Amino acid sequence: MCGIIGYIGSENAVPIILDGLKKLEYRGYDSSGIAVMDNKGFSVVKQKGRLSELETAVNARPISGFLGIGHTRWATHGEPSDINSHPHLGSQNKIAIVHNGIIENYKQLKERLEQKGIQFVSQTDSEVIAQLAEYYHTGDIMDTVIKVANALEGSYALGIMCLDDPDKLIAIKKDNPLIIGVSDSGNFIASDVPAVLSHTNKVYYLNDKEIAVLTREGVKFYNTDKEPLEKHLETITWSIDSAEKGGYEHFMLKEIMEQPKVLHDTIQSVLGDGDNRRIIDSLDITNFNKIVITACGSAYNAGMVAKYVMERLCRLPVEVDLASEFRYKDAIVDQNTLVILVSQSGETADTIAAMREAKRKGAVTLSIVNVIGSTIAKETDYTLYTLAGPEIAVATTKAFSAQLLMLYFLAVKFAAKLGRINSEQAEEYFKEIASLPDKAAKLLEQIDFIQMYASTCVGYKSIFFIGRNIDYAIAMEGSLKLKEISYIHSEAYAGGELKHGTISLIEEDTLVVAISTNESLYGKIYSNVEQVISRGAKVLFIGNCIKAVPDEKLSIVELPKINDLFSPSLSVIVLQLFSYYVAANKGLDIDKPRNLAKSVTVE
Ligand code: AGP
Repeated sequence: MCGIIGYIGSENAVPIILDGLKKLEYRGYDSSGIAVMDNKGFSVVKQKGRLSELETAVNARPISGFLGIGHTRWATHGEPSDINSHPHLGSQNKIAIVHNGIIENYKQLKERLEQKGIQFVSQTDSEVIAQLAEYYHTGDIMDTVIKVANALEGSYALGIMCLDDPDKLIAIKKDNPLIIGVSDSGNFIASDVPAVLSHTNKVYYLNDKEIAVLTREGVKFYNTDKEPLEKHLETITWSIDSAEKGGYEHFMLKEIMEQPKVLHDTIQSVLGDGDNRRIIDSLDITNFNKIVITACGSAYNAGMVAKYVMERLCRLPVEVDLASEFRYKDAIVDQNTLVILVSQSGETADTIAAMREAKRKGAVTLSIVNVIGSTIAKETDYTLYTLAGPEIAVATTKAFSAQLLMLYFLAVKFAAKLGRINSEQAEEYFKEIASLPDKAAKLLEQIDFIQMYASTCVGYKSIFFIGRNIDYAIAMEGSLKLKEISYIHSEAYAGGELKHGTISLIEEDTLVVAISTNESLYGKIYSNVEQVISRGAKVLFIGNCIKAVPDEKLSIVELPKINDLFSPSLSVIVLQLFSYYVAANKGLDIDKPRNLAKSVTVE
């Protein structure tokens, strides 16, 4: 939901900012803009459309400066347009800002300022920040920023430039991420690490209501009482390559192919001697009488898989709630409930709200998060980091797989602690989980068949996914993946539910993707397959216990053998590749699907 970047240093800010925006485009891509300051004032270029449009505009009207800010937008208030793009300036052209977040009281603030004769030019909530800053400004930019922050309700990550302080770039945040990068040739603000990684791997993570004052020489931090703060400088260990396409046509395909490594790294973080192992071992599951998993989108689907695994192994009730529902439903959780929050970004607004609601009710919170230092990671009682590295494609693949793994580990560790399984059984399960990276790599060898099959599926208006138990849970993820990148309508059903209504939608040449990884349920799902084929459907059957033989109506992808509890880690790879190649054959913008953004930091 919007990406911001800023630079102050000894180099021209423009190419640095444009390059940073490319790395942040996954956060929003309906318009973008850049402002630089020189001794004459601000030069601003803003453009509706993809970042390439902004680059063209900047090339046509070159600007330069050693201090600048940039923004890539996912519209919330006001349509995507040149005028609504950031940066926004106050009407005296004295202060320029970029904003990621939502200002909830912008209408009241705008009315107040309009009554004082200030004229607004955009429909955005963000412009109010620039106008308010100019209105408050009496000479000291720190005082101005503090006053503005005190007046704003909602969420914000802000980059601010002021003509009175041409040697400073100011940043402040609340409920939206912001990092500060430092290097010998200049200093940076950014929504995410990849935006600065080609310049530096040294970053500070800004906390809520902390102010960063960047100059060419360095950065200083203050609280809103203007007291100096000491902050820890972190070193990012992943390389710039992990945030580049590396020869693949899309990030999504690269990220799918990276999964064997991600699985391996995440397994090592639990079975080796890392923080994840220590944290899981320190959590006493016997204190809880129920587990609630809450998350959004794919992370919610990971929770659905985990419910089957945990309930089967731990014999403990596990509820899975959409975070957007949990936050408003007056959930029955207390100090005897373990609430697990799953989030790649750690910044999803609904999941943050669910976490805070769970804490308010006294529940113990555990998060599974990919982005280090994110809000959810910082605020939960226990944090487990997935080791997926930066995930750039909007459709999650490798981070989802890492979430699944972490949830399997929790299930096995909890089951052992609760005495539901003995240590030999736990070891057996760990061995099975540890075999996943090699099996995933083996499965990826079938990529050509999946690509070829998907190329025949672009014409479908609707595709159904079915499975039973855990296969149903992963079918939900397959369906979401297909919808979000191929724009084909799809639904996931528990196989047994078909006959209760949905089967009426099956007609000649409907496509049904069926999943079967539990031998004891094979007969049941196969009879669903027969039912849909006899009504004219074609079936892509994915599994490791399939006894049927392929024919013109039935195609099969054979999965490597694995305990069905952990099979979603393999079936999901086929589902991801299938969606990817359907979308690729439709020529769609796979990494940046329409209307979506990578991390949904608004409600
Ligand atoms: C999945 O492909 C999505 N783009 C989306 O559903 C995502 O999983 C969801 O928005 C949750 O994001 P998070 O994991 O960053 O919290």
